[in-house]
Amino acid sequence: MSNNSPIYRVNDLLKAEEAPEGVVMVQGWVRTIRNSKAFSFIELNDGSSLKNFQIVADASLDGYAENVQAASVGASMTVTGQVVASQGGGQAWEMQADAVTLVGHAQEDYPLQKKGHSMQFMRSIAHLRPRSNLFGAVFRVRSRMAYAIHQFFQERGFVYVHTPIITASDCEGAGEMFRVAATKGDGLAEGEEEFFGKPTYLTVSGQLEGETFACALSNIYTFGPTFRAENSNTTRHASEFWMIEPEMAFCDLEGDMNVAEEMVTYLIQDALDHCADDLEFFGKFVDKGLLERLRLVVEKPFVRVTYEEAVSLLQESGKSFEYPVEFGVNLQSEHERYLTEEHFQCPVTVYNYPAGVKPFYMRRNDDDRTVAAMDVLVPGIGEIVGGSQREERLDILEKNLAEHDLSLEDYSWYVDLRRYGSVPHAGFGLGFERLLMFITGVSNIRDVIPFPRTPGSAEF
Ligand code: 4AD
Ligand code: MG
Repeated sequence: MSNNSPIYRVNDLLKAEEAPEGVVMVQGWVRTIRNSKAFSFIELNDGSSLKNFQIVADASLDGYAENVQAASVGASMTVTGQVVASQGGGQAWEMQADAVTLVGHAQEDYPLQKKGHSMQFMRSIAHLRPRSNLFGAVFRVRSRMAYAIHQFFQERGFVYVHTPIITASDCEGAGEMFRVAATKGDGLAEGEEEFFGKPTYLTVSGQLEGETFACALSNIYTFGPTFRAENSNTTRHASEFWMIEPEMAFCDLEGDMNVAEEMVTYLIQDALDHCADDLEFFGKFVDKGLLERLRLVVEKPFVRVTYEEAVSLLQESGKSFEYPVEFGVNLQSEHERYLTEEHFQCPVTVYNYPAGVKPFYMRRNDDDRTVAAMDVLVPGIGEIVGGSQREERLDILEKNLAEHDLSLEDYSWYVDLRRYGSVPHAGFGLGFERLLMFITGVSNIRDVIPFPRTPGSAEF
């Protein structure tokens, strides 16, 4: 812009103790505009805050007709002027405009004219929905939480590791993977099978590669996208989601649970401290019990029960579950939710699962029928963290691989870690979107990720 005024973000202006001196500039999108004879009121939003910045534009301004009267909801504009104490209630400061430039006109069919669209409709306009109050708030919280995750680990000396997105190994052993193949134009490229010399997939987890780095740098974490071809069309599953995976050397299951619980608590506290306006909005419009629940999580220690204790509690609950429970079955979301929402009414860490339902890498317990695995369950969602101590004993790991029909050759690099200076080590995966659902109260995973990928849907 041909103007040297300092540019302010709306959030900084709204929170300022004193109005900045002289003429300043704000830039954003029109949320509402009311034109009267003598002047116009414009509510401008630049995404830095839930709140809009109120601008008063006098009808005597140069270019008033083309830049103000012609503007409509959704248009982008640049405004310079003096920040003054606001006459109306609701905000401390407003701007008396000196100059308004309509940067980009919004056509009449701008879909976000009115409030109260369904979430379904908002998903169909995922390219515009960040301009709404709800999604602006969700994605500010998402950004803050990503920052807080790095802060949590960096403060504790963990090293951030980038694990590959293309991989040849199926960490979780569930076989729910997406093939990666080279293509040319529409068809498969010649010899696509051979591009990497063997079949490759989008990673389901960075854990195995993460373990190699933990066995060198001691404490590491990954934070990246992961992919799962599970065909479960639920509100908690996405085909592409982000996961945080710390891995700690010289660490057992107990240490692992400590870090997981501490991390979840830390992130919630950080959100309460740094996203107060956005959380208050969720508490009002999305989930009335949200703030109370979040405060409770920060104040109260998580409950820990073994899988076998959990099974007994479920059997004694008198509930008729769709999937009956007994030792050896995987806990379903109905079971997880009973434990956290009804029985304990707080987050619950369940540990020592039966070996038969868990992947090859988990450490076998002395009872020889359970493994040192743990899941953190929270009310409203169920599992947000899954982790374990890893099998560090060479002979038992080799036996596990064989039992899971995995080839020693494919995993030789992983097994090597047990040959050269093996250490007890443990880690977990925190589902980033599940955490965000818990912190915002938003009940569908599709609404906490910018562009959701789910079975049958990869728009945008
Ligand atoms: O329990 P999972 O499958 O564990 C692992 O992948 C381990 N390799 C982690 C580790 O020990 N390093 O997944 C971890 C978490 C789950 O607790 C859940 O929060 C999330 O990832 N998750 C999903 N989130 C969204 N959509 C899906 N389809 C998800 N699958 C798992
Ligand atoms: Mg799991």
